[in-house]
Amino acid sequence: MRVILIGPPGSGKGTQAELIQQHYGFPKISTGDLLREAVQEGTEIGNKVAEVMKAGQLVADEIVLELVKARIFSPDCQSGYILDGFPRNLNQAWLLERIDGQRQEIVLEILITLEEISRRLSSRRVCVNCGAVYNIIDNKPKVDGVCDLCGSALIIRDDDRPEVIKERFRIYLETIKPLIEHYSRKKVLFQVDGQRPVEEVFKVIRSIIDQRLAIGQREVSS
Ligand code: AP5
Repeated sequence: MRVILIGPPGSGKGTQAELIQQHYGFPKISTGDLLREAVQEGTEIGNKVAEVMKAGQLVADEIVLELVKARIFSPDCQSGYILDGFPRNLNQAWLLERIDGQRQEIVLEILITLEEISRRLSSRRVCVNCGAVYNIIDNKPKVDGVCDLCGSALIIRDDDRPEVIKERFRIYLETIKPLIEHYSRKKVLFQVDGQRPVEEVFKVIRSIIDQRLAIGQREVSS
């Protein structure tokens, strides 16, 4: 099983990926998190991508693929994994299918307006240490500016500045159509209303995944 989350910046991909991971036990792989880790650690890849990410542009496909490849062939991904933020264009989808083509696939496209994105991203805070995500309007930490999970400081992401949010959204709209058409043709695409509260969005996602898992099990046993 492979669950792919597609959606504009701030649509809740990371939030829902976390809930799917907790509920089904498949590990979540976020290319944004992997890239930010590389930047923070000052690795060769990190140094290459830092400015690109800060400007809200897409990192080169081959760099992202390397990170994904290193992760999806780990033992904990054998029975399944969740991809948050990858693939982001048609070429990345083809590359993924080339390296790991045989899996049952569910693609969730989270739909949301630019107005709601701007509201959410201007109030998002992330933990500088463990990457936990908060929102100072809808999902506040217990103590202002401090992560509930590890006690580290909460910061505003470099790419959550208003002008960069607009650029990320523009790039999303520019690149996403062929990807959506690809998954729609494969009949693995499900659209989810991302404007709803977190738990309601997750309820819809759970019902989609449960249905697909049941179909997968019937196919295996027949
Ligand atoms: P990435 O980290 O993937 O950023 P993104 O796609 O722009 O998505 P975000 O992380 O901003 O938002 P999200 O949808 O996960 O929302 P979240 O759950 O946090 O990528 C960053 C950069 O890395 C890219 O710009 C690019 O440079 C590079 N990159 C990454 N992958 C790449 C790839 N494959 N190819 C090339 N480059 C790549 O939620 C947002 C906020 O809203 C939070 O505060 C949350 O608490 C709140 N919230 C969530 N859901 C709800 C809800 N239902 N109701 C109310 N509030 C909610």
